[in-house]
Amino acid sequence: MKRTTRNTYIFINLGLAALVPFGLICLARHERTTTPRWAIIQDMDKQPYYKAQRPSKLFADGRAMRPHIPGTLAQQDFIYINQAEARAHPRNWAKDHVILKNKKLYDSILFGQTLVSGHGQWLTQIPIPVTKRFVKRGQTEFNIFCEPCHGYNGKGNGTVNRWDQRLRKLGSPEAGTWVPPSNLLGPGVAYLSDGLIYNVVTNGVASMASYKDQIPVVDRWAIVAYVRALEKSQKVVPAAKLPYLIRTNLKPLPTPGSQ
Ligand code: HEC
Repeated sequence: MKRTTRNTYIFINLGLAALVPFGLICLARHERTTTPRWAIIQDMDKQPYYKAQRPSKLFADGRAMRPHIPGTLAQQDFIYINQAEARAHPRNWAKDHVILKNKKLYDSILFGQTLVSGHGQWLTQIPIPVTKRFVKRGQTEFNIFCEPCHGYNGKGNGTVNRWDQRLRKLGSPEAGTWVPPSNLLGPGVAYLSDGLIYNVVTNGVASMASYKDQIPVVDRWAIVAYVRALEKSQKVVPAAKLPYLIRTNLKPLPTPGSQ
């Protein structure tokens, strides 16, 4: 074989071999697998921990997501102490706890209620200053805790709901008795006061579970602020009614997490 021909063969083969990694990457992007990836360096791939919403063998009630232990305080918990206690133990309180000496404020923040002539009434306003940062915090928490059911836009078509619909379509017996989550932008929730929405997150409602053990008090209020922001953002204003500068610069917003 002539030298140049041999070199040509070598080059062609090397060129083809160079395509193999790209081929593998394309394959990996196309094919789905249920087996774990190959971990050459194990890092923290294998850890003994329970996943959220999974059963646990360790606890008698079988829940992996543990409720708070009665009589204990978590970090960032709110505590109420009256003036006498505050005077008696001026420094005897953990740094990470929010100490309130005003019972009325404590009740409104913790229970979303205020007393009106002896009766508890749901707050119509968030009892914490609503700043941009606060609403953003609410967005982060909403996207973690509420999205699976209510969806990023709050309309009730989150990841789990879509999965259920798929199972139903396939006629799978696993579809079970899923109750579709409420549309948070509908009139049903628009009529709920801020205190009641806070209460839904805290104590759950009908087939929706309580999130008080997972979400700290302030974050629950931040979520309420974000639900309100979602409602406002979805208010339909006819494009023709918008100011000229906005109307001519309209661009669709990317929704977080959507592909
Ligand atoms: C596991 C699914 C699930 C998750 C997660 C979830 N919800 Fe719900 N939610 C539901 C269902 C189901 C309903 C309807 C309850 C019913 O009518 O049985 C509902 C109803 C509601 C309602 C309406 C209550 C009413 O009286 O109309 C609000 C408000 C709400 N959810 C807020 C939230 C917020 C805020 C979060 C995040 C902290 C959240 N939900 C997380 C399933 C969920």
